[in-house]
Amino acid sequence: MIHPLRIGVAGAGSIGAYLGARLAADGHGVILLGRQRLADAVAEQGVRVTDLNGLDEQVQPDSIRVVTEPAGLDGCDIIFVTTKSHDTQAMAESIAPHVTDGATVVSFQNGVRNPDTLRKALPQAQVLAGMVPYNVVWAGPAHFHQGTSGSLVLEQREDAEHLAQTIADACNAAGLPAGLNPRIQAVQWGKLVINLNNATNALSGIPLQQQLADRDYRRVTAAAQREALAMIRGAGLAVRSSGKLLPTLMPTVLDCPDWLFRLVAGGLVKIDPQARSSMWEDLNRGRKTEIDYLNGEILRLAEQIGRPAPVNTAICRLIQQAEADRAPPNLTATALLQKIGVS
Ligand SMILES: NC(=O)c1ccc[n+]([C@@H]2O[C@H](COP(=O)([O-])OP(=O)(O)OC[C@H]3O[C@@H](n4cnc5c(N)ncnc54)[C@H](OP(=O)(O)O)[C@@H]3O)[C@@H](O)[C@H]2O)c1
Repeated sequence: MIHPLRIGVAGAGSIGAYLGARLAADGHGVILLGRQRLADAVAEQGVRVTDLNGLDEQVQPDSIRVVTEPAGLDGCDIIFVTTKSHDTQAMAESIAPHVTDGATVVSFQNGVRNPDTLRKALPQAQVLAGMVPYNVVWAGPAHFHQGTSGSLVLEQREDAEHLAQTIADACNAAGLPAGLNPRIQAVQWGKLVINLNNATNALSGIPLQQQLADRDYRRVTAAAQREALAMIRGAGLAVRSSGKLLPTLMPTVLDCPDWLFRLVAGGLVKIDPQARSSMWEDLNRGRKTEIDYLNGEILRLAEQIGRPAPVNTAICRLIQQAEADRAPPNLTATALLQKIGVS
């Protein structure tokens, strides 16, 4: 293990508790700022982390701390922010008095605007953008399961390269592959394009593997991605891949017939049979989703460049309706294609 770090996790749910527990298991001092239900579960049994490759590790209650008040993060050198995007501003304001001068804050969140929100609210800190490519679900009271493969990415910036490298080294040593990327904004847009499948999966109500095996569901995502790529290009922004999934090729790959898709996709990403998007999980629990920060970003770009984005507009509406109904609508692929206007 490298020199132990003091790491705080602001908003410990699937991603935060998983990353925190993996680092705690490697000897780092980790404090999870989360809800009382997490604190109770961890006090009773610690944190269990599992993954699709058979990892099954129990972090004992005395090896990881859970706090429910932001003051519990006092003294952390590094803070990972892992709330949903709609909670970033509130979380940043609540931890601001407890973030020390020069602390490193990493946004391990989806979407493209969280790092800027954190920079504005936490001027005393070095804020780095981060990206988590894989899926993690809350599989039991304090059990977090990584269901797909991939490597973490941290923003590489001249004025903070040493900090980013220290965090990446700690992650790698703990068995969490991680690297640096100087074009993190393009990586975030690339991830956003890939994440457009989250809404398709949430609307389908079935596991990812099963949803992606159905060409018509894939055509829904492909249509959303094509439209998104056109808006991103139109706004003069770049997309970049951070792994084997190339965002610009995704619509073509998804449109392939099943036999060809199986052949191509098999080597790209591993997905375990029960994995679902966290947007499905949010709908299933009757919670607000991040739709505004994913497909919603495409609507903002469309408005900015004065072009229509009918597919992503329809998908946003369907998710908003499901939020209001507090349940996934379990739409068939045919119904979904029809609702987004793709024949
Ligand atoms: N899960 C994935 O597979 C995955 C993969 C890649 C990226 N991401 C991204 O990572 C970010 C986090 O996702 P997630 O799935 O880990 O979300 P999550 O499970 O909802 O975790 C966030 C946790 O933060 C808690 N929280 C929010 N405000 C808080 C506060 N002020 N004090 C204490 N706790 C607070 C939430 O509690 P409440 O729910 O009670 O508010 C929740 O338990 C998102 O941007 C997501 O898109 C997720």
